[in-house]
Amino acid sequence: MAPVKVLFVCLGNICRSPTAEGMFQQLVKANKLEEFITVDSAGTGDWHIGRPPDQRAQQAAQARGYDISHLRARQMSREDFHNFHYIIAMDQQNLANLQAMQPQDFSGHLGLLLPFAGSGELLEVPDPYFGGEEGFRLVLDLLESASVGLLDHIKQQYLVV
Ligand code: 4NP
Repeated sequence: MAPVKVLFVCLGNICRSPTAEGMFQQLVKANKLEEFITVDSAGTGDWHIGRPPDQRAQQAAQARGYDISHLRARQMSREDFHNFHYIIAMDQQNLANLQAMQPQDFSGHLGLLLPFAGSGELLEVPDPYFGGEEGFRLVLDLLESASVGLLDHIKQQYLVV
């Protein structure tokens, strides 16, 4: 079976989406699904291309057991719509930008991450870039609850017999 490909997208690809990538990759590995699910991340903006995740994001992730230091920022491209089954946006603004660049023949899932948490009214992972460390911890809390729901969804859609 060809792998199910998941792409997390935020604005800069240095805070939220690389954290989501590292966390989801670890969850996939813990479930022994690396052969079946691949994970990547990108930003809608181009300011940080080639840079590692923000130091605060790296430290907050490390404190929860996720190493994201090896990741490097890249910008989302239209080509990504041909390469990924799931394109998962962190907030409404990024989702709107993605919808605007979406090719007509894209048949995958383009949507927000937090609805996969299945609880609460919060739909967006707040941008932590201009705030303090507690914002990065909130990002981790939100990503952790939604990651499990997203994995369950993918398993049901593609992997469960
Ligand atoms: P991210 O956070 O979208 O979660 O990576 C941001 C990173 C950088 C900027 C904004 C948000 N920026 O304005 O440079």
